[in-house]
Amino acid sequence: MAPLHIPAEMDNKDFLQKTAREHKLESKQLPNGVKELTMHIGDHTYPVYLGYNKLPELVGELKKLDLDKVFLGYDEMTAKHCGHRLEAELSKQGIAFERHVMGLTEAAKTVSTLDGVLETFLKMGGSRKTVMMPVGGGIVSNTYGLAAGLLFRGIRLVQVPTSFLNAHDAASSSQKQAVNHAGYKNIVGLYHCPTMVLVDTSFYASLGKSQMKAGLGELTKNAALFGGVHHELMKRTVAVKGYQLSGEDLVEATFTGIAAKDMLLKLDPREKHIALLFEYGHTIGHALELTEGTVTSHGEGVAIGMLGASFIANKMGIMSDADRAEHDQLIEWLDPEILLPERDITAEVLDKVLHDNKRGYIPEKEGHAPFILNKRIGEMHYPNIYYLEYVPVPLVQQAIEYVVERMRKRGYDADPAKDGTPKATTRRAAKPLKRHPSSFVYGDDLPEAKVAKTLEKAVTSEHTISMRAPDKF
Ligand SMILES: NC(=O)c1ccc[n+]([C@@H]2O[C@H](COP(=O)([O-])OP(=O)(O)OC[C@H]3O[C@@H](n4cnc5c(N)ncnc54)[C@H](O)[C@@H]3O)[C@@H](O)[C@H]2O)c1
Repeated sequence: MAPLHIPAEMDNKDFLQKTAREHKLESKQLPNGVKELTMHIGDHTYPVYLGYNKLPELVGELKKLDLDKVFLGYDEMTAKHCGHRLEAELSKQGIAFERHVMGLTEAAKTVSTLDGVLETFLKMGGSRKTVMMPVGGGIVSNTYGLAAGLLFRGIRLVQVPTSFLNAHDAASSSQKQAVNHAGYKNIVGLYHCPTMVLVDTSFYASLGKSQMKAGLGELTKNAALFGGVHHELMKRTVAVKGYQLSGEDLVEATFTGIAAKDMLLKLDPREKHIALLFEYGHTIGHALELTEGTVTSHGEGVAIGMLGASFIANKMGIMSDADRAEHDQLIEWLDPEILLPERDITAEVLDKVLHDNKRGYIPEKEGHAPFILNKRIGEMHYPNIYYLEYVPVPLVQQAIEYVVERMRKRGYDADPAKDGTPKATTRRAAKPLKRHPSSFVYGDDLPEAKVAKTLEKAVTSEHTISMRAPDKF
């Protein structure tokens, strides 16, 4: 495998802040009121058309493609909530279409579902000129996106994300398409970029509270990572209005979320180094999400995980008390929720943290777990180019205890989900899915010299001095 190329200018603690300050998402306002954004993944670009209540205009953009028909891919929920309006508009504009509906959960994101998609596509007369159009959340985007990459060795893919999370996640800003197999998550897949992405924030209207907070969790994380416009957005929206934002607010929020992805995926298209920063908050958040008996959305889990990360950064002397208070304020605005089982889950969560997928980016260190840490809003702790710090396991345990206790005090309000929107638990696979060990980059893929250099730097940096201090925990 070719060694990973990391440009030298990125190996610099000021690089991220400078990039965040200077980055501007290429965009223009079209005369019909739709925003046209240019998403970059490495050198590759594609347009994202974004608007509120702009379905006729968005379908108008689709119509400009030379196509014979559209193959619509839904799940049961998006077929119900979004299918009618979209199909009426396609018919109105004379675009032929076929449809396929898959199941709702991770358990449906399988090779056999994929097989059904491929077969239906071919039986319905799909051709090279047919456009694959997933309509929904990340499960739908990934499954039909993979089918698009395989059919005729790649047909055009037009993503239509209908959840707030997916609008700046799997659909708008990723070329990674995959399904689960043999108990492993996202193990059968490929890279296939969309030809275009169509986002109408009016589709978000049928999402429940936890789905909205899931998307806003992503923006909460961006505010901590990059500060600036990302922090300002949260002050103007979630801080004053909570999760119930207007369609126009959601256009701005989706724009800002996509801008963050554009900034880092342009530099790191395979998400192997600087784009790993999007994993901030995931280490404890994801472990909590995967613990038996918990109920939360992915974005809320990440925001809760950020509370654990700031606890750790503060104890390690990386983040001051005042900076921690400002950081945690972001999460308080979002007010994430998690239903926790009554039993003590500390050991289970810790075990999941120790098997986190950031293992392997830097060499293992006995008694420590790698964490991405924040110094203050808009400034990440930089011990090496992967932004990964070794945290002593007893301190991780304290952070888990702190977060669990804090969330127990907050309590959990049942999600008044709209019209049967699935809750987090029902979206999980029946059996927990694992990450395959080869998903970790450590090995051939790791630029040895670069890591050696950055770790050597970590060993002599001020952070390593503060890193040793917590051995008392
Ligand atoms: N390719 C990538 O880079 C990438 C990135 C992130 C996540 N993912 C994948 O995405 C998946 C998670 O996505 P998800 O689908 O659970 O999350 P999601 O938040 O995108 O969708 C959640 C649920 O909301 C429902 N929904 C969507 N739009 C709706 C609407 N307008 N009204 C009512 N309900 C609506 C969907 O039916 C779905 O069940 C995972 O499998 C993950 O691997 C991929």
